[in-house]
Amino acid sequence: MKQRIAIFISGRGSNMIAILHQVREGILKQACDVVLVFSNKENAQGLQKAKEKGIETAFILSKGKKREDFDKEVIALMDKFSPDYIILAGYMRLLSPAFIQAFKGRIINIHPADTKKFQGVGAYEWAYEQGLKKTQVTVHFVDEGMDTGDIIEQRELDISECRSLEEVEKKGLSLEHKMYSEVLKKVFNNKQTMVKKNEQK
Ligand code: GRF
Repeated sequence: MKQRIAIFISGRGSNMIAILHQVREGILKQACDVVLVFSNKENAQGLQKAKEKGIETAFILSKGKKREDFDKEVIALMDKFSPDYIILAGYMRLLSPAFIQAFKGRIINIHPADTKKFQGVGAYEWAYEQGLKKTQVTVHFVDEGMDTGDIIEQRELDISECRSLEEVEKKGLSLEHKMYSEVLKKVFNNKQTMVKKNEQK
């Protein structure tokens, strides 16, 4: 059984595009379908890119709305698409407890640092400015906190040779693009095994 996923973005959407590619012709082909790309911003670059690839897109403006009110609207939208998983890919909003409850254990995020060491935006800047030789990329479940959910997998990013922040970001994103789909595949496959086991009962 394929999982239905909704990808949430706020900007460029390069991770979203990498996942789409793997869903269409790569390692996620048997694992999931992208039922929606959603953004809290009308002009998120990624929305246009998803549309061009024939993917259903939607946005609801978050600006000026209370987190709970906005998330209620998003939950109502999700009811129409019934995703099994919400995949955050550069989605720049904290989710309300009501949203987390609605999709408990089924919201996943990618964070470009070790979430135990650095949370929030600017993780590549942080690693570069600290002069770190190595940093981490983390894929984790999402809870009510900012990058505080259970870690699914971390991979090391060697930035010792990087001479600028741009180089760090370029190298980091290329790891992210590969890693996110690989980790999602593992999560969805485990889920499928669980479903099979339950069905056999
Ligand atoms: C990525 O670095 C991701 O790890 C972080 O936000 C950035 C989004 O980039 N959460 P993109 O929109 O996927 O290109």
